[in-house]
Amino acid sequence: MKGTTLTSDFNPETTVIPPHGGKLVDRRVPPQEREAFLRSARALPRVRLNGLQASDVEMIAIGAFSPLVGFMGQADYRAVVEHMHLAGGLPWSMPVTLAVDQETARRVRDGQEIALEDEEGRLLGTMALQERYAYDKEEQARKVYGTTEEAHAGVANVYAQGPVMLGGPIRYVGVPREELPFPEYRLEPVDTRRAFQERGWKTVVGFQTRNPVHRAHEYIQKCAMEVVDGLLLHPLVGATKGDDIPAEVRMRCYQVLLERYYPQDRVLLSVNPAFMRYAGPREAIFHALVRKNYGCSHFIVGRDHAGVGNYYGTYAAQHIFREFQPGELGIQPLFFENSFFCRACGSMGTAKTCPHDSANHVFLSGTQVRNILSKGEMPPVEFSRPEVAAVLMEAYRQR
Ligand code: ADX
Repeated sequence: MKGTTLTSDFNPETTVIPPHGGKLVDRRVPPQEREAFLRSARALPRVRLNGLQASDVEMIAIGAFSPLVGFMGQADYRAVVEHMHLAGGLPWSMPVTLAVDQETARRVRDGQEIALEDEEGRLLGTMALQERYAYDKEEQARKVYGTTEEAHAGVANVYAQGPVMLGGPIRYVGVPREELPFPEYRLEPVDTRRAFQERGWKTVVGFQTRNPVHRAHEYIQKCAMEVVDGLLLHPLVGATKGDDIPAEVRMRCYQVLLERYYPQDRVLLSVNPAFMRYAGPREAIFHALVRKNYGCSHFIVGRDHAGVGNYYGTYAAQHIFREFQPGELGIQPLFFENSFFCRACGSMGTAKTCPHDSANHVFLSGTQVRNILSKGEMPPVEFSRPEVAAVLMEAYRQR
């Protein structure tokens, strides 16, 4: 990383805040064992993972899903679906599972090592298969996503997956970082933790996004930056639904925005390789725990966090935090009201700070922005910085 120096007393587990469960998981095969690992993996039965499952493998391997060391077995799966905790009692809100078809499940045996490969047939790692179990997709949809409708993008993913879960710890060789998207921004939890320590940040706020950063996002980030030492701008770059703006375009938006409008020494831009689940409230908890593993002490939750359509209440993703005991999550959520530019105030604000009628407020939905861009027009400057709008307009022009 640019402009950073290594300090000798770096301990990734004590920087800013401890990882979830206290230990930063690392399931990567060490370089000196790699040869032998690859050789023995050749003889194993292979299971092909789709892009979502491959993303989970990477997240587990690098410790972003600490304390998970593999795909969940039945006890964890059930405890998470029912109570938002792992079987051992730690909070965890989203299943992280490897669902396969019947034929694949029959091909492997409990107690066996299996090789995991990506959609292109590249070896990702291995799993010590501990158990195979059936599950109820509709129940998962209802309890985790709050709906059984297939129109919900996250539920559609659950319905599309196979009927049998394979559970067990993984080991990871993965694809070299240079072959993955955004290698220079692909900092792992150990890297972000080191970067925070080197910058002397004692408190860091994490920001999840699957959108370009618009004025409302910038406003809540900067409000948070007033009370913490640094911002981890942590866009999700795994799979998103078709009409979300592609990650390559978003990354260009973040770069131009940070260059022009943010103090360089207070922000770290890095990508989150997870895929979007669109699980609203449950995903807000999950997003917070993942950012805790990346070393954040605080996490922003605004309006309809990780929502899709009208499935969740505007602040449901904030209210869900009340279901956990104080201190149980180990990361401090920062809640923000729906933010907008108010023409009467001449500034950004929310219902908490602006007394004016909504006729003065500039607020556009994702669909409205997409419509403006498809017509080749520029979103208003009150909504999006012109530099960001220019990147988006260019991306739409080239489509
Ligand atoms: S999300 O699916 O990643 O949550 P998005 O990228 O739009 O979608 O949001 C990133 C974060 O900003 C979330 O915490 C979300 O709640 C918050 N947010 C987005 N728009 C607003 C807004 N107008 N006012 C307040 N918070 C917002």
